[in-house]
Amino acid sequence: MEQQAVGSGSGVGLDSQTVLHGLFGDPVKHSKSPLMHNRAFRELGLNAAYAAFHVDPGRLKAAVEGIRAMGFRGVNVTIPHKVEVMDYLDEIDEHALAIGAVNTIVNEDGRLIGYNTDGIGYVRSLREEAGLSVQGKRVLMLGAGGAARGVAYALAREGAETMWIANRTADKAVQLADSLGSLTDTRAIGYDDLAAIRGDVDLIVHNTSVGMHPNVDEVLIDTSWFHEGLTVSDLVYNPLETRLLREAKARGAHAHDGLGMFIYQGVYAFEYWTGRQAPVAVMREVVEASLRA
Ligand code: ATR
Repeated sequence: MEQQAVGSGSGVGLDSQTVLHGLFGDPVKHSKSPLMHNRAFRELGLNAAYAAFHVDPGRLKAAVEGIRAMGFRGVNVTIPHKVEVMDYLDEIDEHALAIGAVNTIVNEDGRLIGYNTDGIGYVRSLREEAGLSVQGKRVLMLGAGGAARGVAYALAREGAETMWIANRTADKAVQLADSLGSLTDTRAIGYDDLAAIRGDVDLIVHNTSVGMHPNVDEVLIDTSWFHEGLTVSDLVYNPLETRLLREAKARGAHAHDGLGMFIYQGVYAFEYWTGRQAPVAVMREVVEASLRA
């Protein structure tokens, strides 16, 4: 279903025709998604709107029922609801099922379909911003939480040759490695054992919250061995340049920040909902401006 433009200048028209979208999470107040999607609707002249809803744990089922009851077209789901929400949907896309989490819901005439755009969003940002194709690459994943699962799945599907997964809680690294074993060569590794693989790694992906505002002086691993030819990618985008990325650049490595993953997960969600090509440049511009403010 492609949404029709309602004429230039119509902007986000909150009237009886407005097609509604939202974000369900806890917390949601810091989210840049409403800003980004409303800017995109306005750019394409769509009579649509996007708002953030603080949904407490325990109320998620009722909130999802509300999508059907009120005819929302689409919803993003964020922490802590990405796994539980799967229980309340009518259909789950095969990739979201393999990842074990949903971040995007599309309402097709009352049928709620769940997708996961985090991993594909990440891979697209890596390609478009870092110019990096994943095919044949040897990847070190730091962290094995929800974000890491989507990213690791997408990297494995895109043809990463080897993936090492390190995590503070070692069991979770083993679990994630096992779950991707049918897609590529995947192994769990301890943070203390990274020296053994240093020479083999092409891409490091940091998937934990270490270094995120306000703890901007933190860094998860020793960076003294980073070198030219290595790409270091940080999912954290607040701040845009984390200590990890600063140290990567200082050693000649290529640094890729986490904003692109956020933008492109939104781009894919927007395209699922509207059937239109998302205006990526303005979406990025408005989020960057807000992070600088
Ligand atoms: P998200 O959905 O953002 O990935 P998550 O599922 O809670 O959130 O995962 C957080 C990740 O950051 C995990 O890999 C976590 O490690 P554990 O599984 O051991 O908890 C990692 N993490 C968070 N704080 C960390 C810290 N101080 N040191 C190392 N890893 C940390």
